[in-house]
Amino acid sequence: MDIALVGPGRAGTAVARALVDAGHRVVNVAGRTPDAESTRIAAARFEARVAPVQFAGRGAGLVLIATPDDAIGATAGAIAQSLEPDALVLHLSGVHGLAAFVPLVKARPDVQVGALHPLQTLPTPDAPVVGAWAAVAGPPLVAELARAVGMHPFAVADDHRAMYHAAAVIASNHVVALLGQVERLAAAANVPFAAFEPMTRSAVEHSFEVGPAAALTGPVARGDVATVLGHLDAIPDDERPAYRALAAAAYRLTGRNDTSLREVLA
Ligand SMILES: NC(=O)c1ccc[n+]([C@@H]2O[C@H](COP(=O)([O-])OP(=O)(O)OC[C@H]3O[C@@H](n4cnc5c(N)ncnc54)[C@H](OP(=O)(O)O)[C@@H]3O)[C@@H](O)[C@H]2O)c1
Repeated sequence: MDIALVGPGRAGTAVARALVDAGHRVVNVAGRTPDAESTRIAAARFEARVAPVQFAGRGAGLVLIATPDDAIGATAGAIAQSLEPDALVLHLSGVHGLAAFVPLVKARPDVQVGALHPLQTLPTPDAPVVGAWAAVAGPPLVAELARAVGMHPFAVADDHRAMYHAAAVIASNHVVALLGQVERLAAAANVPFAAFEPMTRSAVEHSFEVGPAAALTGPVARGDVATVLGHLDAIPDDERPAYRALAAAAYRLTGRNDTSLREVLA
């Protein structure tokens, strides 16, 4: 397919690159402005034309809208008149479903719309998408495109989208935030952050092998109230809310009814 890439940042370029590797071609690149750095770099990388958003749909069978989430609706409106009949317009957002394209479908009932959210952090335009799962919505072609670039597609309905995206944010960003707490407490105890790596990796791997409840170890799982109290006493005031919240989440996983632990974590 000939592709128009609108929003040539990290995710858009990573997905477009994978589609090019699968035999497709990027013909148009449209960014915030025609001379924006990300626009120029992507156009050069794909040997594609730089187009204003209003004209970017011309000649493209597939339009990737990979702007920030808040700009998707306005971008779809801006590009509408240039779209080819039957073109597939896809966004890459996790939080938005097909509702983001309702005004577009009203204006251009002759085009198809879909969503393809790579369930993967893409910190650079060169990040690989192969092997990632992808939340898809829209016609079967969306799932076919995901498979063509080595992703595992699964459907998410619009009314489950925010819940799904919250889980995705917890699985990536919140895990990283938690490791930030590990790094701070380790530094305060003069212990290298790297020392925690094998333990963290095995806890994550074990959780996916046997499920989080069976993978849980430690003082909350054992009911060692004095140990938990000792931690809360030792760590700085501003680290306690996160520790308490996560220890309460661990307690929830145990399924036990332990009044003293509940009181400590309340
Ligand atoms: N990165 C990830 O880990 C990831 C993973 C999965 C899904 N996604 C989704 O992918 C989408 C893009 O995210 P991203 O992380 O790739 O963002 P990003 O790196 O900031 O890229 C956004 C791109 O859109 C351009 N842009 C901004 N406003 C625009 C507008 N009004 N019209 C046209 N282009 C515009 C930006 O131009 P400038 O460079 O000039 O600002 C940039 O090229 C989002 O929907 C996000 O939810 C991201």
